[in-house]
Amino acid sequence: MILLVLCLFYLLTISGEPTDAKTLRNVGICYGRLGDNLPSFSESIQLIKSMNASGVKIYDANPDLLHLLSDSELRVSIMVPNGDIRRIASNQSLADEWVERHVIPFHPRTRIESILVGNEILSDSTEQGKQVWHALVPAMERISSSLKTRGGRSARGIRVGTPLAMDMVVSTFPPSSGAFRSDVRDSVMAPLLNFLNRTGSHFFLDVYTYFPWSSDPSHIDLDYALLVEQENVNYTDPESGLTYTNLLDQMLDSVYFAMGKLGYHRVKLAIAETGWPNGDGGDVFGANSFNAGTYNRNVIKRVTSDPPIGTPARPGEAITSYLFALYDENQKPGPDVERHWGMLSPSGSPHYVLDLTGDLYRPEIPLDP
Ligand SMILES: *[C@@H]1O[C@H](CO)[C@@H](O)[C@H](O)[C@H]1NC(C)=O
Ligand SMILES: *[C@@H]1O[C@H](CO)[C@@H](O)[C@H](O)[C@H]1NC(C)=O
Ligand SMILES: *[C@@H]1O[C@H](CO)[C@@H](O)[C@H](O)[C@H]1NC(C)=O
Ligand SMILES: *[C@@H]1O[C@H](CO)[C@@H](O)[C@H](O)[C@H]1NC(C)=O
Repeated sequence: MILLVLCLFYLLTISGEPTDAKTLRNVGICYGRLGDNLPSFSESIQLIKSMNASGVKIYDANPDLLHLLSDSELRVSIMVPNGDIRRIASNQSLADEWVERHVIPFHPRTRIESILVGNEILSDSTEQGKQVWHALVPAMERISSSLKTRGGRSARGIRVGTPLAMDMVVSTFPPSSGAFRSDVRDSVMAPLLNFLNRTGSHFFLDVYTYFPWSSDPSHIDLDYALLVEQENVNYTDPESGLTYTNLLDQMLDSVYFAMGKLGYHRVKLAIAETGWPNGDGGDVFGANSFNAGTYNRNVIKRVTSDPPIGTPARPGEAITSYLFALYDENQKPGPDVERHWGMLSPSGSPHYVLDLTGDLYRPEIPLDP
């Protein structure tokens, strides 16, 4: 116990003066609010800060919340709702209005780092959903242009992106076979990548090893999905010859390969969401706090490592990442497991131990001074 206290004290003293570069390496938190029992905005911000997150991603651009975040050092990612995309795509004044209302009053005191246009819109294949697909890149162009004309100097660093789910790639296995769905490849993905490459933005990805694992647990090793490195469970892609030690790298690389097939070899991935459920209301095996803590700690260890690890296809490349989610959200639709992704319960107590700076997991830091 005394040793532990000493170790913590040592960690505290060496991480006491975070440089910017260091802060940027930390992991951010997705602050979803689909619950009727969640702490207030200011309590939530305190919790996020006490967890040492470097950033917070919200699913709207709530002005009260953005105002409260101005007193934090947190980098903030805000979102244009799916329902606004078509209108913004067709009218520059509406894009200007959006930026004037949700960005200008707050930035840079609130450190808005990215504006995400929509959320997983390519996962909606209804007729109405498809109309949004084609408005996506035009809307991003307009928001980007409003930032340039209205945002002044400080807005230049704000990235415009859109988070997509893994269902936009048709094949993830082997990773080298990664390719975008044919119904979006030329019409949406090509112009999107052109935009991201041209503006220096990232390709934001919602990526969960939990889903492929839970749909096929007899063929996918649990530790491989949890990023627990093992001597004998590696996979070599026969086409690329690259060797994989975990499922997350495989999934990320399938997207890099898909981008490469359209000629984009430089656009960086950012993980807009990843995580593991802490419980399931009884319906799925494998969703528990132990696995959730293991997965999230392993993700943090990888994405905060210095120098960056990257993936087999993009070794050494840093990947900005957000963990999903701050709280269990009791109003999320879908199967029971959807309501159990929190790092914290709605009362604010942690489901498992987590150090979002990654310091606790860095072997190069002597724990025994
Ligand atoms: C664009 O939006 C503005 C502001 O709401 C509105 O005044 C204008 O009529 C719209 N233009 C078109 C072509 O719909
Ligand atoms: C699998 O990967 C791990 C971690 O990189 C490595 O230590 C181990 O030697 C590899 N095993 C094989 C059989 O390649
Ligand atoms: C991506 O951007 C770089 C730098 O601006 C440019 O040289 C390259 O041609 C672009 N790639 C594609 C496929 O457009
Ligand atoms: C956050 O960082 C502080 C100071 O470095 C440290 O004392 C604290 O234990 C950290 N909190 C968590 C939850 O890791």
